[in-house]
Amino acid sequence: TSTRGTAIVNLDIEGPKISRHLYGHFAEHLGRCVYGGLWVGEDSPIPNEGGIRLDVVEALRALDIPNLRWPGGCFADEYHWKDGIGPRERRPRMVNTHWGNVEENNHFGTHEFLALCELLGAEPYISGNVGSGTVQEMSEWVEYLTRDGDSPMVRLRKANGRDKPWRVRFWGLGNETWGCGGNMRAEYYADLARQYATYCRDHGDNRLYRIASGASDADYAWTETLMKQISCFGCEATPKNFFQALSLHSYTLAGPWEAKGSATEFGVADHYRTMAAARRIDRLLAGHSAVMDVYDPGRTVGLVLDEWGTWWDVEPGTNPGFLFQQNTLRDALVAGLHFDVFHRHAERLVMANIAQTVNVLQAMLLTEGESLVRTPTYHVFEMNKGHQDATSLPLHLRTTSGGTRELADGTGLATLSASASKRDGALLVSLSNLDAEAPAELTLDLRGGRVGTPSARLLTAERLQAHNTPADPDAVAPRAYEEGLRADPDRAGLLTVTLPAHSFVTVRAPLAG
Ligand code: AHR
Repeated sequence: TSTRGTAIVNLDIEGPKISRHLYGHFAEHLGRCVYGGLWVGEDSPIPNEGGIRLDVVEALRALDIPNLRWPGGCFADEYHWKDGIGPRERRPRMVNTHWGNVEENNHFGTHEFLALCELLGAEPYISGNVGSGTVQEMSEWVEYLTRDGDSPMVRLRKANGRDKPWRVRFWGLGNETWGCGGNMRAEYYADLARQYATYCRDHGDNRLYRIASGASDADYAWTETLMKQISCFGCEATPKNFFQALSLHSYTLAGPWEAKGSATEFGVADHYRTMAAARRIDRLLAGHSAVMDVYDPGRTVGLVLDEWGTWWDVEPGTNPGFLFQQNTLRDALVAGLHFDVFHRHAERLVMANIAQTVNVLQAMLLTEGESLVRTPTYHVFEMNKGHQDATSLPLHLRTTSGGTRELADGTGLATLSASASKRDGALLVSLSNLDAEAPAELTLDLRGGRVGTPSARLLTAERLQAHNTPADPDAVAPRAYEEGLRADPDRAGLLTVTLPAHSFVTVRAPLAG
């Protein structure tokens, strides 16, 4: 049975701005994300600029990629930045103990990362080492990157060929300090975060946005401990925060950690379990926001979901430490669902970074030698890019028939999801039908304004398991979808959209007047 429903969008009621940084990315020294994915080296036959893959740059620029988090993840807390500067052939090597126990040659370091960000037009987000580093090391990294004039670190930077400082705003104070970043207790880390934040200075007019290493999933106690420590009350005439934001990590798994399941070989029940797991992000963001509201009712402290996405078993025959997984229409629906939730939480949620950009976990792009494939998830980012820096519009979704699937554990899964925003005189509505088998008819009831001729795009495929490969790179790709839209001839502002089973649709319309 198909689902029927209505989505009321009030064009004249403005919600919070959707930061473009909710569409952020994450690249770790893990598997083939950096080496082979972003970086091929200057001598590679693959077209590159200074060693950076140009096909990858072009594909990511088309997403309006707003920021890139680097160098980890768990890797960040064993990374010593001074090993990654200076002539490449003289850089010390290390073992990447977290990810495959492989040797890291440090060829992709600070200068290469900042050059990549410049090519992408993306803001850098650097994750500093608290787990195995020192306060001095982190403080000097900030000085090296952002100070102008003359100082020991500025002289070192200049000797390595970069005269002017970079502008670096986003700064992570460690990663998963409750786990791979040092196995700390919240109270201990809260003190370290204050200490490290103190010595991560604002040089010149560069203002750091310090992001403390936050909770995993529903660990609200971790968030509360950090929030209690956030302000430097009494130590200055004007109280200021030690850190400006807290992070949160939450991955989507359909099963237990030990048996995450295949990325491509799954059934309908696995699909619904995945969607139910993805929907948890709404409760998690609400829960952490509620804790933060107690200590920061004015919502000046940001929540940064700097790792999210699906996590499946690695592709058969690949290195288990490299986290290489395929990406199907199911992954695309997980992404669409997350964005709807992000838009609703845009007041507190200031940034989100999908894990990870290339060849790792829920990637945008998969490379194999010279080939480059855009994943279904990539297409959701592209179709949704009009939400970046847009004003969110409240959307009320009501189903009149169907719209729920019962899961094996007796709970119900709502199969429709939607969100809306306006920017540059246009309305953008994103719609997902998570139902594996049945289509849906959704009436968009646009109130409080008039719209011009709408257009729509559709992302779907015959099978939920459909994915893109070098041999079939467009098995899942968006297409124009005018036949799926019907305007009501008798009432302006009523638009009916047909959503095929397991589909993601965007509707765009100019706002009149
Ligand atoms: O994204 C892969 C890993 O997941 C990251 O390194 C770590 O922070 C998280 O546990």
